[in-house]
Amino acid sequence: MTTTPLPQRCDRTAAWAALAGHYEAHGRSFDLREAFARDAGRFAALSIDAPEVFADLSKNLIDTATLHFLLDLADDCGLAARRSALFAGDLVNGTEGRPALHTALRAPRGQAPFSTEVHAVLEAMLDYAEGVRDTAASGIHHIVNIGIGGSDLGPQMAVPALEAYAHPGLAVHFVSNVDGHDITPLLRRLRPAETLFIVSSKTFTTQETMANAAVARAWFLSHGGREADIGRHFVAATANTAGAAAFGITTTFGFWDWVGGRYSLWSAIGLPIALAIGADHFRELLAGAHAMDRHFAEAPAARNLPLLLGLVDVWYRNFHGFTSRSVAPYHQGLKRLPAYLQQLEMESNGKRVDEAGEAVPYATSPVVWGEPGTNGQHAYFQMLHQGTDVIPVEFILVKHPTHAQAELHAKLLANGLAQAQALMQGQTAQQALGQALPPTASKNIEPAALAAHRTFPGNRPSTTLLLESLTPRSLGALIALYEHRVFTSGAVWGINSFDQWGVELGKALCGDLLPRLASGSTAGLDASTAGLIARLRRA
Ligand code: F6P
Repeated sequence: MTTTPLPQRCDRTAAWAALAGHYEAHGRSFDLREAFARDAGRFAALSIDAPEVFADLSKNLIDTATLHFLLDLADDCGLAARRSALFAGDLVNGTEGRPALHTALRAPRGQAPFSTEVHAVLEAMLDYAEGVRDTAASGIHHIVNIGIGGSDLGPQMAVPALEAYAHPGLAVHFVSNVDGHDITPLLRRLRPAETLFIVSSKTFTTQETMANAAVARAWFLSHGGREADIGRHFVAATANTAGAAAFGITTTFGFWDWVGGRYSLWSAIGLPIALAIGADHFRELLAGAHAMDRHFAEAPAARNLPLLLGLVDVWYRNFHGFTSRSVAPYHQGLKRLPAYLQQLEMESNGKRVDEAGEAVPYATSPVVWGEPGTNGQHAYFQMLHQGTDVIPVEFILVKHPTHAQAELHAKLLANGLAQAQALMQGQTAQQALGQALPPTASKNIEPAALAAHRTFPGNRPSTTLLLESLTPRSLGALIALYEHRVFTSGAVWGINSFDQWGVELGKALCGDLLPRLASGSTAGLDASTAGLIARLRRA
């Protein structure tokens, strides 16, 4: 394993200067409506067929010249070499001295580093999952995954997304929060004999997970479960097999320190997914991700979807100054996708120093947020259309549903298309004036004043990702697409996308405050924290 030499900082490259000039000359005043009017081939030129995902980038504030300079930026920042280093297992996570080899978890046997170990655990895990799925023999009807962050969000996103493939006799539940309001109501509905707990934790030391696992164990024993049955009703997915053994767990599916938490759903952390959808479908999930890996590694830069999305993210963040991106999956099964993407992108790229530890003078991760469509339309889309901030939106549409409600599905798709169109097109005051007054409009307001309220600036960018169907394969490809997109923007910014030191300080301070809540000692604390502790302890 080797480390990769640090390339030139992005803001010191010729391409960055060219992009800054291009933004001043054309980017700031770029108008999507004019761009479409000028170029009948814009949709064809700016849409890309990647494995399982068709992407329409044409409603973004980009043109051929923008892409040209962005691709130069990728070159100047050594993107190709960084990508090769990622796949080769070089030490791309410098501060932890590790590779980030999530791509190896979904590579066919013999085609990536650590293949023997990866496939041995995969086989064992899938065999085990099939055994539990034989519910007549196993007696298990409820799976409870206890984990947090990367040991929760991936399976919690994927299981409902693939509900159409799920075992009808197995309910999969997720407990993550150390707030007892998470596990307590769930346990009330369960019976030990029918329940399998998965303790999912890479480190097997995370406070929330260990606390919830202890509660689950105590509940199991106090509700008729026997000590001797712990081994059958508790399993672990962890890189710390000794920790799991100390807990009394005898069935452990391991993984390795080179699997980052937020990149771990392809590893043993995917056990809840395998239990829900079965071995063959889990393999399809891996195959879809692998197809996207190959696309990212091999497709020419100008047609490489993760690369282009990552570069457009840089364009928006650093030149347009957009601070967030909203994700709107028009599929109820993808309701947890925004939460999953928050960790993926913000924990990966929410960094303020480069790999050498130098503070960077440019912005990094945007805020990523969202809700499924159409729900979001009736909540925050008002702000997307008429607020003072421009927020690029990502629409995810799925052509074929797995239900038979064709009319509902047509309405869903039409809504998604309409929102993207409205963001781009907007509506002038003149157009508003020409329309019949909505019944809710006041009769006591001047038509011109009302028209101002009903004006939409338009020219608001969006990307549409289109899947044929939401299958294990297409979900795998979609998630890998996001992983590589985040890698791309992180690589341009020259940051380490694979560490997460920012979560440590709060953990340490919690360790100090927990005993103070019991003792009441506030010595040495700031007045606010001391005051809050006193208030919490007041009888
Ligand atoms: O909160 C930080 C973090 O380390 C995440 O990166 C990780 O996914 C999560 O905690 C859970 O960690 P573990 O799997 O070790 O319990």
